[in-house]
Amino acid sequence: MSLDRSVTNSMPANRKKLMNRSKRRTGRRHPLATVALLALGLVFTGGAYAALSSGSVAQAEAEPTSQETIEEGKKLFQANCATCHGLDAQGNNGPSLIGVGAASVDFQVGTGRMPMQMQGPQAQVKPPQFTDEQVKQLAYYVASLGPGPDIPADHLVNGGGDAANGAELFRINCAMCHNVAGAGGALTEGKFAPALTGVSGVHIYEAMVTGPQNMPVFNDLNISPEDKRDIITYLKYVQDNRSPGGFELGSLGPVAEGLLIWIFGLGSIVAITVWITAKSN
Ligand code: HEC
Ligand code: HEC
Repeated sequence: MSLDRSVTNSMPANRKKLMNRSKRRTGRRHPLATVALLALGLVFTGGAYAALSSGSVAQAEAEPTSQETIEEGKKLFQANCATCHGLDAQGNNGPSLIGVGAASVDFQVGTGRMPMQMQGPQAQVKPPQFTDEQVKQLAYYVASLGPGPDIPADHLVNGGGDAANGAELFRINCAMCHNVAGAGGALTEGKFAPALTGVSGVHIYEAMVTGPQNMPVFNDLNISPEDKRDIITYLKYVQDNRSPGGFELGSLGPVAEGLLIWIFGLGSIVAITVWITAKSN
């Protein structure tokens, strides 16, 4: 009885559902419409991606490395660098430059280290001897001889990253040579890690990817390009906000600070004691 009733009760509802479904079915698009829509969507996303990515390629190639640039670079190189690096940069008194990349030349010549003037433990930093354009010509000539790290893109070196992350990475990777505040420090055999204030973002990036002298190379697997950008951001921050708290004592840390307190703090206590004793006598 109860079963019968439930069946009859549910009858109209079922029929209603059926009717609804058939109504929907008649309103439905052709089954291939979904496929067509999907294809259209894919074409659009693919097209948009291609347009955007070709845009960024165009940006990366904004620096024209025409044959003319390379030829000019070759002439400059043979006149100014060949005595040490060889006529075809294969090395002579100086090391071979094949495969060091545009970044290394831009760093070495842009910071005035090259052309080296006198032999010593470390190439000296001097006012650059070439114009920006000539530095680029030299750089792209050397880059044309063998693949190596390129001059970094603007957005990686303009200091727009995360300074806190950069500070952390700097402490781990760089502070043992360059000091926590980037003030520089001595190494062995007359070599030294220079202060990093006043160094441009491009040159900081290039130093990391080429590792001049005793400095290790930090490739993109060690420190990603974004992390390099953060380190540059930190160094720019340090440069713009030098020791807001007072004397920096060469940024040498607790030893220098302790010594200062030892000498001046203890010294003045001794002086006061002597003064008090002298008065009471
Ligand atoms: C008086 C010799 C001398 C002259 C001239 C000279 N260099 Fe050098 N160069 C060296 C020596 C030595 C080194 C390696 C020692 C160092 O890096 O301090 C070196 C290193 C370099 C490096 C770094 C190579 C690397 O492994 O990353 C580059 C790049 C370079 N020179 C480019 C140039 C260019 C470009 C010129 C010309 C504008 C030039 N040098 C002129 C002697 C010279
Ligand atoms: C093992 C010690 C050592 C470590 C670690 C080191 N550097 Fe250096 N760095 C040097 C030395 C040495 C030089 C100088 C090379 C020369 O003059 O040819 C140098 C040069 C530089 C320069 C060029 C400065 C100028 O005046 O042109 C920059 C920028 C720099 N380092 C950044 C860094 C950063 C950033 C890190 C960490 C990611 C780092 N260094 C880690 C030793 C080190």
